[in-house]
Amino acid sequence: MATSLKINGQMRDVQASEGTPLLWVIRDELKMTGTKFGCGVASCGACTVHVDGQPVRSCQTYVEDVEGAEITTIEAMSEDKIGAAIQQAWVELDVVQCGYCQSGQIMSAVGLLSENPKPSVEEIDEYMWGNACRCATYQRIRAGIQRASEILEA
Ligand code: FES
Ligand code: FES
Repeated sequence: MATSLKINGQMRDVQASEGTPLLWVIRDELKMTGTKFGCGVASCGACTVHVDGQPVRSCQTYVEDVEGAEITTIEAMSEDKIGAAIQQAWVELDVVQCGYCQSGQIMSAVGLLSENPKPSVEEIDEYMWGNACRCATYQRIRAGIQRASEILEA
């Protein structure tokens, strides 16, 4: 089926058939490879994008369910105020290790700070628990979110 999706503010025509996960439309059809495939079953968070401002797992979100929605990927985060603050904090604190999980981590962290600009450690852990990091950068992710919160407050 041909359909149009709004991704990062632009209408994009895609050919994906019904039932195709949004992740594959983004990566394979549109060649935007910042969003990663980890588990495919909504357990790791590597594929996190935003749909209407909410973090969702694109491996378990189907193309027909996001027609008419605002889809945002990691590629647009440097133009987002919160996304840019998180990226600045990530660089300052050297959060990344291998990097594979990090676009998903950033998309979830943006979702968190959008809802809660000054989260406690407990609130960070609760919100971010579904984003796995095999390099165990959890402490730096936590510190990065707190630093981004300070950047946004300044
Ligand atoms: S690839 Fe989607 S949650 Fe793991
Ligand atoms: S930085 Fe390597 S999996 Fe998270």
